[in-house]
Amino acid sequence: MLLKKYFIKYIKYYVFGIIFVSLSSIFANYQAVVVRKATNEILSNIHQHSFNSHQFLMYLFYLLGLSLVSGIFMFLMRQTIIVSSRHIEYDQKNELYQHFQKMDRHFLKMQSVGDLMNKISEDVSRVRMFTGPAIMYLVNVIVTVLSVISFMLHVSPLLTIIVLLPLPLFSLAIFQLSRRINALSTSVQEKLSLMTSFVQESVSSIRLIKIHAKEKFFNQKLNTINDVYSKEFVQLGKTEALFQPLMTIMVGTGIIATIVVGGILLVKQKIEPGNITEFVMYVYRLTWPFTALGWVSALIQRASASQSRINELLSIQPQIINTSNEIYPVKGHIVFDNVSFTYKESGIQALQEVSFEVRPSEILGISGKVGSGKSTIFQLLLRFYDVDKGSIIIDGKNIKEHNLYWLRKNIAYVPQDAFLFNDTLLNNILFPETTGDLDKVIEICKKVELHDTIMQWPNQYHTMIGERGINVSGGQRQRIALARALIKQTSILLIDDAFSALDNDTEQKIVANLKSELSSKTVIIIAQKLSIIQSLATKVIYFKEGKIIESGSPDELLQLNGEYKKVYDLQMMRK
Ligand SMILES: Nc1ncnc2c1ncn2[C@@H]1O[C@H](COP(=O)(O)OP(=O)(O)O)[C@@H](O)[C@H]1O
Ligand SMILES: [Mg+2]
Repeated sequence: MLLKKYFIKYIKYYVFGIIFVSLSSIFANYQAVVVRKATNEILSNIHQHSFNSHQFLMYLFYLLGLSLVSGIFMFLMRQTIIVSSRHIEYDQKNELYQHFQKMDRHFLKMQSVGDLMNKISEDVSRVRMFTGPAIMYLVNVIVTVLSVISFMLHVSPLLTIIVLLPLPLFSLAIFQLSRRINALSTSVQEKLSLMTSFVQESVSSIRLIKIHAKEKFFNQKLNTINDVYSKEFVQLGKTEALFQPLMTIMVGTGIIATIVVGGILLVKQKIEPGNITEFVMYVYRLTWPFTALGWVSALIQRASASQSRINELLSIQPQIINTSNEIYPVKGHIVFDNVSFTYKESGIQALQEVSFEVRPSEILGISGKVGSGKSTIFQLLLRFYDVDKGSIIIDGKNIKEHNLYWLRKNIAYVPQDAFLFNDTLLNNILFPETTGDLDKVIEICKKVELHDTIMQWPNQYHTMIGERGINVSGGQRQRIALARALIKQTSILLIDDAFSALDNDTEQKIVANLKSELSSKTVIIIAQKLSIIQSLATKVIYFKEGKIIESGSPDELLQLNGEYKKVYDLQMMRK
């Protein structure tokens, strides 16, 4: 179990915690001893027709002192055990988060976001309920039961045995009842979250529901879930209603046994009158552990299920492994040598024996139908996946021998659909950089024809964008992504169809602005629109079903009169 290392890390806290729990419990037991003495004292005072008020005050003082000391130890035990469970929770969240960051695309594709979120919040907090409260109560239960029984035995073994005799039966009943309550409340909880997500979904799709006049249908659907939920809830209430009476009967039986058997022993002068009061207090102290036991066992079961889910996740190792920590200038000479690649998650062969070469200061255009494998080239260049066959050589070295993080740092990449953070425009563009420089951002935004638009926004470069700010259009989003990539002054620039939502006029302006900047880099541009490729690329490859079917300079491709030319003519006609 991966929890072991945390227990070892915080062992000091746990040892002290266990000591504090024990002391707290034992001091609480002594209250019963004091009450016994006080009772005996009162009785003997009654016999002697005198009242020793000084002695009586002393007992009161003892009782207060014992409560106080027991309380202080209880406080200290929380300070040690609960605090270290919070530390473990913190460590575990960090460990999981770091693990997620190491994972590759394949892994992230196979896990739903909701699942991952659950693991980092739900599961970790369930484990915390074990490392904190469950351990604390368990120790408390054990110490209380053992110490109370030993105190009882000290008074009268016979009375102890008689009082404890029915306990196993009761504890079994209570345990079963707790299990049933736990199972029911888990189920109720599940129904509730089902209902919440259903309501959430229908609220956010309310317009769609209204357009299609589906109100009744959704109402009925909610009613079905709600019915089950309320039935289970009622059942939970009924089951819970049994708990208190059962406890009362258990305590009652203990007290009756104490009074009857204790009375007989008292008459036979085997015990003192105070022992009966003392015993009644012990019986009360024993009831709490029985209530706690069912609850603690549920906590432990849940935590162990959660921990094994966490362990399973932590045991998955990334398939992309970094082998180098070297830092060096990346020139940007890229060679694909007979590369084949199949996505394992879908079994789709995306590339088949693809070979090409791009040198610094060359601009390679890639085109082809949707799904022909273009974006996959970038996935492989960024090493989100490793190739199945062939090799990718960058600056004369296999991509697998490069420092993974350094390589990614030295590649500027404009994805097909860029993600924007709920943040200012400035921060969105500066995301790849650690230090920000507004002037540099302005310069780049002018190049991507975004500056004029931005100046019209309420807070200009400090305007919030995304969900909580202004909504940007598809074309603006693409240009923000382009600016974000250009701010990284790298020798390799990969652009995946980032001009698709731009009008021809803007597109040509951007192309003109960027021409000189791009001419010093290794650039690969994927584009459906061949106008971009025609005006920028120095060479072109054309994909069909994962294979390069045509390649050459843009003019050569037109002269070939093949697929490329056909698509080009179609696009020209539409203009
Ligand atoms: N992450 C992925 N997992 C599984 N299959 C994928 C993934 N990405 C792409 N594919 C599949 O690989 C093929 C090539 O995809 P892609 O390179 O994105 O094409 P293009 O960019 O030319 O439209 C497609 O059939 C696509 O469905
Ligand atoms: Mg694509």
